[in-house]
Amino acid sequence: MTLCASPMFETNKELPVVQLELPESKEAGVDLFVLRLDKIDELVSGNKWYKLKYNLMNAKAQGITRVLSFGGAYSNHIHALAWAGRELGIQTVGVIRGEPAYVDNPTLMDAVRWGMELVFVSRAEYRRRSELDYLTELQNVYGGVLIIPEGGSNALAVKGAAEIITDRMRLDYGLTHVVLPCGTGGTLAGIASSQPRLQVVGIPVLKGAQFLVKDIQKLMQDADVRCDDNWGLDFDGHYGGYAKVSPELLSFISDIKQRYQLPLDQIYTGKMMFRFIEMLKEGAFYSGSRVLLVHTGGLQGLRSLSCA
Ligand SMILES: Cc1ncc(COP(=O)(O)O)c(C=O)c1O
Repeated sequence: MTLCASPMFETNKELPVVQLELPESKEAGVDLFVLRLDKIDELVSGNKWYKLKYNLMNAKAQGITRVLSFGGAYSNHIHALAWAGRELGIQTVGVIRGEPAYVDNPTLMDAVRWGMELVFVSRAEYRRRSELDYLTELQNVYGGVLIIPEGGSNALAVKGAAEIITDRMRLDYGLTHVVLPCGTGGTLAGIASSQPRLQVVGIPVLKGAQFLVKDIQKLMQDADVRCDDNWGLDFDGHYGGYAKVSPELLSFISDIKQRYQLPLDQIYTGKMMFRFIEMLKEGAFYSGSRVLLVHTGGLQGLRSLSCA
């Protein structure tokens, strides 16, 4: 199949990798780098760019005119999809967990401004988002729609995420490890499968996320990519659960921004960095390790703090 070329998803973007010297990394003898995926596109930022790339390019190539997906009220995925749909001339529908009153928040206001149709559903209905019956119902309502799962994670997202870390990047920086935050695990599935020589550590931001191990294996199988044992999950980085935020976390985020000019969000990258530093202190990385932290974007979600 020929894929429609789109300037939005042109592949030769140079991604900034910055070195970070934390007192804790020095102490542990670890060289630390950050891959700034947040810089890849202003509005389709971070891992979303990679996860949506083949989904939307395929949709275009197949003449699909409408795409539907799922997310919470501050979903980075919904936000990115709404913008990408507008840029590519594809209609978008967002099935949102929660009350229509959320439409006043900056994330959803952007989505609506960019032409996305929002459908608010109860938590009970939202839980059905992967059930075949429910997906068929949605297909019947929105004839010919392409349904992309929550967080954008499917086989095509894994294919896109497999392009995040290249062999050249691994060699140029002499990398040994990659650390990234996990929601659904699609990004980790792509990175771990494409970089079997690296040890990949995922930090789930959901509490009780042990189910992710199986989900990630399934995503790898669906995408027909390598499924080695070069990856693992650390379950201590949720800090109370998804989107739970403490004053300590917020002051950590502001400290990192001030000291290193590195903006982090409170849902994904802030928790990853917080946990990573704890792991350094626990001796989780041997001296001489060269670790790449993946900044997966999500900075638009910071706007939820001023709405709380
Ligand atoms: C900023 C950010 N980082 C990380 C993730 C988690 O990615 P994944 O669902 O592929 O594990 C998400 C959500 O998809 C996100 O929005």
